[in-house]
Amino acid sequence: MTRVAVLGSGSWGTAFANVVADAGDTDVVLWGRRDDVADAINQRHENPDYFPGIALNPKLRATADVAEALHGAEFVVVAVPSQTLRENLAAWSELIPGDAAVVSLMKGVELGTSRRMSQVVSEELGLSVDRVVVVSGPNLAREIVERQPATAVVACPHEPTAVRLQHICKSAYFRPYTTTDLVGVELGGAVKNVIALAVGVAVGMGFGDNAKAALITRGLAETVRLAVALGADEHTLAGLAGMGDLVATCSSGLSRNRTFGEKLGSGMTVDEVITETRQTAEGVRSSESILALARANDVEMPITEAVVAMMHNDLSPAEALLAFMSRTAKPERYG
Ligand code: 13P
Repeated sequence: MTRVAVLGSGSWGTAFANVVADAGDTDVVLWGRRDDVADAINQRHENPDYFPGIALNPKLRATADVAEALHGAEFVVVAVPSQTLRENLAAWSELIPGDAAVVSLMKGVELGTSRRMSQVVSEELGLSVDRVVVVSGPNLAREIVERQPATAVVACPHEPTAVRLQHICKSAYFRPYTTTDLVGVELGGAVKNVIALAVGVAVGMGFGDNAKAALITRGLAETVRLAVALGADEHTLAGLAGMGDLVATCSSGLSRNRTFGEKLGSGMTVDEVITETRQTAEGVRSSESILALARANDVEMPITEAVVAMMHNDLSPAEALLAFMSRTAKPERYG
């Protein structure tokens, strides 16, 4: 039986492990730091931290022992905060089976290096990118753990590996598609968090659907510009991991990024929002690394710039809006 280890028992790690357990004949083990969470999953089939009262598949096992989780795993699925990935991999590298494929569920870009998560995996483990897979798409974890219908994209430059994981996670309520465009899928996932922060700010400021549609549409334009400059296929960004995830995240009250933006837009400071929210809004830190990547490649990303200015340079939402609306427009492909 295929063995899958999922490292990280946060919301998406838990929901994805449950998808694999629901999908069928796979032995799936979820690793998390805390014994009490592992015990609750094993005994009550529930993750009390993120999904109290929602029944997980009884076949899903959990452990706080990472060596036990990784033993014999053919797929090692990683779902930790993006900025902690490198240090986590350094601690796990000796334990990851030599022939395993490593799957990233993370939607971020590393600060300091501007590396995508698949690049961090490949560098840190000395793994060919053909053995690195990314799963992305409009995948709000709570809806998925409730077994509501959802679609996703499984990306790997080595197509048979993507197809293999597609079969492992395909169920009656979860429909994964495959692609070889790792760059497009990862940048779609990372940049949409930044755009969702901007949409949240607009909503928090009391603006309506015209503003939201403008940010989503122009946000997609800047995502496409960056991704294509880095070698992605433009069509990927029109798909589930681009437009699909952007629309879901920017529209959803479940999104950590949109919620973070809403609180900022309604008058809280960045520090106040960080103190109040327990979960990681990936776009807050990735906005900086994405902007660095854009500047290094001479790509204009005005929404991302406004988000960085609000998150890291103390610009108020009102000031950011004024700067955004009054900047000199350049002729562009996407109107
Ligand atoms: P948040 O990280 O903002 O909660 O977004 C979830 C997501 O990536 C949905 O696809």
